[in-house]
Amino acid sequence: MTDEDLFKRIDEIEIRKGKERTIKSYVLRNNVLSDRYKKVISDYMPSHGFFFEDKILDYESLFGNPNPVVIEIGFGMGDTTSEIAIRRPECNYIGIEVFLHGFVNLLEDLGKRNIDNVKIIRFNAVDVLEHMIADGSVEGFHIFFPDPWQKKRHHKRRLMNPAFLHFLATKLRKGGYIYMVTDWEEYAEEVLGFSAEESLLDNPFGGYAPPVTWRPVTKFEQKGMDKEHAISEIWLERR
Ligand SMILES: C[S@@+](CC[C@H](N)C(=O)[O-])C[C@H]1O[C@@H](n2cnc3c(N)ncnc32)[C@H](O)[C@@H]1O
Repeated sequence: MTDEDLFKRIDEIEIRKGKERTIKSYVLRNNVLSDRYKKVISDYMPSHGFFFEDKILDYESLFGNPNPVVIEIGFGMGDTTSEIAIRRPECNYIGIEVFLHGFVNLLEDLGKRNIDNVKIIRFNAVDVLEHMIADGSVEGFHIFFPDPWQKKRHHKRRLMNPAFLHFLATKLRKGGYIYMVTDWEEYAEEVLGFSAEESLLDNPFGGYAPPVTWRPVTKFEQKGMDKEHAISEIWLERR
């Protein structure tokens, strides 16, 4: 692919705007491809990124090994993503993020440090999961500090709702997990409540989960803690 094609495709999320059927859980801002961004994309997209295709992903050809695949939705700046990939090298990771600055930041980090068990895509996660991820194929989902959409009239834009939780569960292999962390108590309560109604999932903790040892503090977690928000962890497993 030429550099010009790479730059066009990085922005294809814009082109699909009108075609999206799903509710948008994000807002796109500051999407200008500066020369610095172009260099990172040209250097590292071929090795550490991939593009949207209406075709089920072959994980083994993407990663070059058969290790289990964990998908992170909304990695933000991605610092946590690369640290987890280093701490748990027995898994492969797919990171999905629409935020250009965060996407380029993680792409550069992965490329410079040769972190080969993470591949990232700049696209709406709902579309990626729907079109590219096979049912029953995922080891785990990481959803760290999803936008809480605080105003009541915006709650419908929240990523986590009963239908999306069910959809995630269909993508998990048996015993696979969904790990969500938030500093927004009311959102956590809501997810915990409707997850108990989801017949494909178990909550091995019966309520909130204890923190895992391998998850570093994320950018948004730090912001929440600075405001003295409590951190709620939810861990669910596919039956
Ligand atoms: C509040 S931030 C949290 C970022 C990071 N996980 C952290 O804890 O620092 C939520 C992120 O999710 C991304 N996001 C929201 N909906 C998304 C979607 N449907 N597809 C991909 N990314 C999404 C947003 O762009 C944003 O960067």
